[in-house]
Amino acid sequence: MDLIWNDERSNQFITNVGLITSDGPFGADVMACEWTHHVSYSPGLIAVCIAPNKATHGNIIRTKEFGVNLCSTDQSVMSSVAGGYTGNKYNKIDALKELGFEFYEAKKIRTVMIKGAAVNIECTLTKEIMLGDHTAFVGEVIEASNNADKAPLAYHRGKYFIMNTNVVKPSQEERERIRQVVEKHKR
Ligand SMILES: Cc1cc2nc3c(=O)[nH]c(=O)nc-3n(C[C@H](O)[C@H](O)[C@H](O)COP(=O)(O)O)c2cc1C
Repeated sequence: MDLIWNDERSNQFITNVGLITSDGPFGADVMACEWTHHVSYSPGLIAVCIAPNKATHGNIIRTKEFGVNLCSTDQSVMSSVAGGYTGNKYNKIDALKELGFEFYEAKKIRTVMIKGAAVNIECTLTKEIMLGDHTAFVGEVIEASNNADKAPLAYHRGKYFIMNTNVVKPSQEERERIRQVVEKHKR
């Protein structure tokens, strides 16, 4: 069956907003990508799922590299621009510069990266897998840095959120009680 965009069930997911930077036949570009996942520690691998009609898709196919910048809570405008316009028609990087956002040259790949993002990761493409109507590009991390004073923006039901309410974990006593119950069910 299908599980389409904005379906009540797909809306229950909470994601990050990856701002994926690339530079190739479609020009320097940035797109918003909620399907951005850290999928391996050693080596560090990041998967981004991108629809084939996006300019970013064409750029990554050609250059085999991309930047992953996790949108911070003060960059929701960047996400809206990166996700609301296509690099096929617009130079979003220049538009975002005019809107006050700052970029820097990546250290190990040929693209710009975003200043003030929660995390900046430079990737080279190791695998591309067609998954239904999106392509999963798996990138190996070759350079990574984070901004400790920035928090990642959360995305849910088409809206942006700040994650600032902590759900308290069970106390030591509760954990001991839970452990005793789980132990009773050991295979
Ligand atoms: C918050 C947000 C998250 C998005 N996540 C994805 C995604 O995970 N994959 C995807 O293919 N498009 C996603 N999009 C849509 C693309 O960002 C949008 O189509 C964009 O215009 C593509 O830019 P490009 O053609 O310059 O690459 C998202 C849009 C927004 C606003």
